[in-house]
Amino acid sequence: MKDTIYSAQQRKVVVVGAGAVGATYCYALAQSGLADEIVITDRNEDLMKGQVLDLVHGQTFFPTVAIRSGSIEDCADAQLVVITAGAAQKPGETRLDLIKKNAEITGGIAEGIAKSGCMGVMLVVSNPVDILTYVALKRSGWSKNRVIGSGTVLDSSRFRHLLSKHCDVDVHNVHAYILGEHGDSEFAAWSMTNIAGINIDKYCPVCARCKDWKKERKLIEEQVRDSAYHIINYKGSTQFAVGLALVRITGAILRSQNTILSVSTLLESDFGISDVCLSVPCVITDKGVSRIIENPLSEVELGLLTNSANVLKKALSSIL
Ligand SMILES: NC(=O)c1ccc[n+]([C@@H]2O[C@H](COP(=O)([O-])OP(=O)(O)OC[C@H]3O[C@@H](n4cnc5c(N)ncnc54)[C@H](O)[C@@H]3O)[C@@H](O)[C@H]2O)c1
Repeated sequence: MKDTIYSAQQRKVVVVGAGAVGATYCYALAQSGLADEIVITDRNEDLMKGQVLDLVHGQTFFPTVAIRSGSIEDCADAQLVVITAGAAQKPGETRLDLIKKNAEITGGIAEGIAKSGCMGVMLVVSNPVDILTYVALKRSGWSKNRVIGSGTVLDSSRFRHLLSKHCDVDVHNVHAYILGEHGDSEFAAWSMTNIAGINIDKYCPVCARCKDWKKERKLIEEQVRDSAYHIINYKGSTQFAVGLALVRITGAILRSQNTILSVSTLLESDFGISDVCLSVPCVITDKGVSRIIENPLSEVELGLLTNSANVLKKALSSIL
């Protein structure tokens, strides 16, 4: 049954998967005021109903938004569909271990979304996100700009947080990206990293806060790469930062902000790489990825991006 209190349904977001990530995203999205309607679906009906009730009881405290449970048919007039359905990463399990299980789930959901007649953007979050973005793209038959993976938007935020702590400056003065696979082969694009516009290579020698900044950088990069493993070991899953990263991507889409984010997208000769989805800097609008920023990476970084592409292609070949 529809939540009938609110009628404006301009910005509709459907979330497929009401688990830890899906529910946390809905909670953050409701508070953001970005959406007029949030529809939650999950194959676990009890969970879906419970999450909706728990959220609508907070309506007094956040901006006006209709929240209800629904089904894949609700995607028909949605501006954005976010896929967080699937099995979560278990302790000791790599993202690529999840590949077969989640490819079938995401592929089926993508087909259902396309069948609904949806003209919006599909945002894949379930892991391994780059593989599943590729699967969703192929199974939906949509154009590549409309199928996006959350990619390394979360990892880039983790990177910026660690840099800001290390350099003792506000995180908002730190501009930095993690690129490639959202997973073990991801890397820090140091050539794009700057603090208040000062390239990190120029900033580090004058900052003098650490004895050996080359070594420190390596440690920070490792810490970013292992973040998910640490959190999963502590509490079983990650949900808060990813929920907020998804709200950031949602804002860029619903408000067509031309925001540059490191989402996962299909490369077609970009950076000399083709036929694989991975994270590179992309301009995001209401049409999804409007263009890729093919910035000049260093030779080492280009090698690392190519390595990520090869890792992902190998994993893809195991399911295609
Ligand atoms: N991309 C990222 O940055 C990022 C970060 C964290 C987690 N994740 C991934 O997000 C996914 C969800 O994580 P979680 O912690 O919320 O897991 P979860 O187990 O709490 O929730 C998954 C939900 O998906 C539902 N589901 C499964 N198959 C479905 C289907 N066919 N249709 C509808 N619903 C279905 C389940 O019932 C469950 O409620 C995992 O794959 C996880 O690895 C990605």
